[in-house]
Amino acid sequence: MSDSRGPAGSRLPTEIDTTTPHVARLYDYWLGGVDNYRADRLLGDEIATHIPSIRTMARANRAFLGRAVRYAIAELGIDQFLDIGTGIPTARNTHEVAQEVDPAARIVYVDNDPLVLAHARALMGSTPEGKTAFIHADLRDPVSIVTDPILTATLDLDRPVAIVLVMVLMYFPDDEDDPRTIIKRLLDAMPPGSCLVISHPTADFDPQALARATQAMEQAGITFVPRGRAETESLFAGTDLVDPGVVPVREWHPEFADTSIFGGTFDTETAWIWAGVGRTH
Ligand SMILES: C[S@@+](CC[C@H](N)C(=O)[O-])C[C@H]1O[C@@H](n2cnc3c(N)ncnc32)[C@H](O)[C@@H]1O
Repeated sequence: MSDSRGPAGSRLPTEIDTTTPHVARLYDYWLGGVDNYRADRLLGDEIATHIPSIRTMARANRAFLGRAVRYAIAELGIDQFLDIGTGIPTARNTHEVAQEVDPAARIVYVDNDPLVLAHARALMGSTPEGKTAFIHADLRDPVSIVTDPILTATLDLDRPVAIVLVMVLMYFPDDEDDPRTIIKRLLDAMPPGSCLVISHPTADFDPQALARATQAMEQAGITFVPRGRAETESLFAGTDLVDPGVVPVREWHPEFADTSIFGGTFDTETAWIWAGVGRTH
């Protein structure tokens, strides 16, 4: 069973501008997708000169998403997911991983990019027992997300929900968009026992390379805020971090790996991304 909805809200872009790089398409390019344009590829290649392992980092992040979904179901008993900053559909989307483990799993996807909206149908292929839905909305307006009729028709808010903020909070500077307040609003709408999944790029491993990449993105009009380990941990305020806490992304519960992703091949170089899961009580 599935549901979808078109654009709503005045802050949402509704037209696909192919002449300037967009973050969803940039990430799609690094993941080897085809939903990107010349402007995205030029910036993607420029960033790869500063961070040569950027493509494997994107894959490592994607693999973490799958492990966190499996962990939430197996270890926390959570079968509902609110995946915000979904991205263009690619290898092993959240509902595919979740419903493989639990066919009754329910997933709501949220993204503000009109290209992701255009692909929403691909995100909606639910099992008959489960549910999937897509909401075209902005994370900067978390209350509109948690009160959206599509969300309340898809998720049972009397039962725990996993809020998935994987590789999206780096677009939210502390002094402009206040990510901690946004996260609090999301968590406040969910019952105890819910969880928060975050991955976040960091300059901790190579500050100079990240400074160059950040500059390239900002010159292209993309706000990008890498965060250190302590800053990333602070995004989990209001939750208890599950073991092993906030760690380099590849080190987070490798035993939950999905061996079908990326043909079962796993890169080993360090990915400059912090990752963790926190639980509310
Ligand atoms: C780097 S991609 C990550 C995709 C996916 N979460 C993953 O990790 O594989 C970031 C996504 O966040 C979305 N995004 C950026 N800012 C957003 C906002 N303010 N509200 C909703 N989505 C946003 C982008 O459109 C893009 O699809």
